[in-house]
Amino acid sequence: VTQQAVEALERLVRDVPDFPEPGIVFKDITPLLADPAGFRVVVDALAAVGRGDDGTPVVDKVVGMEARGFMFAAPVALALGVGFVPVRKAGKLPHATHEVAYELEYGEAVLQLHQDALAPGDRVLIVDDVLATGGTAQATCELVARCGARPVAFAVLMELGFLAGRDALGDVPVTALVTAP
Ligand code: PRP
Repeated sequence: VTQQAVEALERLVRDVPDFPEPGIVFKDITPLLADPAGFRVVVDALAAVGRGDDGTPVVDKVVGMEARGFMFAAPVALALGVGFVPVRKAGKLPHATHEVAYELEYGEAVLQLHQDALAPGDRVLIVDDVLATGGTAQATCELVARCGARPVAFAVLMELGFLAGRDALGDVPVTALVTAP
């Protein structure tokens, strides 16, 4: 992604101060989703993380997290030609699940994944919109591992560098298209 494209993406993510709580600056991706050129740049760049040097996919599944992660992970899975697997908040998935409790930048929650959604040995690309504290990403890596699958890369539109969320990912390589300092 060129520097010019990065700056265009930065302009398409709106900062909303004091949402959902005082002191939190919310990264609002809705202007980006509404911009087809910007949305395509993001999906293509995130999908590239799941390709080898010859351009073919090196992952078996793309996992995305409810809710905003779905908006990027599902088109990335289609672009790669691999399946999409949702990680959802507690109580939404109907079949047998694995579950992990995690802390958010604001609050606490439980994430779940269908036990049969990933096969042992599956190589997984995890895609989300924002990496903040890393709690969501870490919980998702753990859910993937519970299935015996392997998180091989984490790709995100925007990383909030000041929260050091990538430290929570251990040795899973992190690609962020935009970094907010
Ligand atoms: C946001 C965002 C990431 C997560 C990042 O989701 O979409 O998934 O927070 O924060 P973290 O790195 O501190 O865990 P949120 O839980 O607000 O849910 P939503 O997408 O349903 O709004």
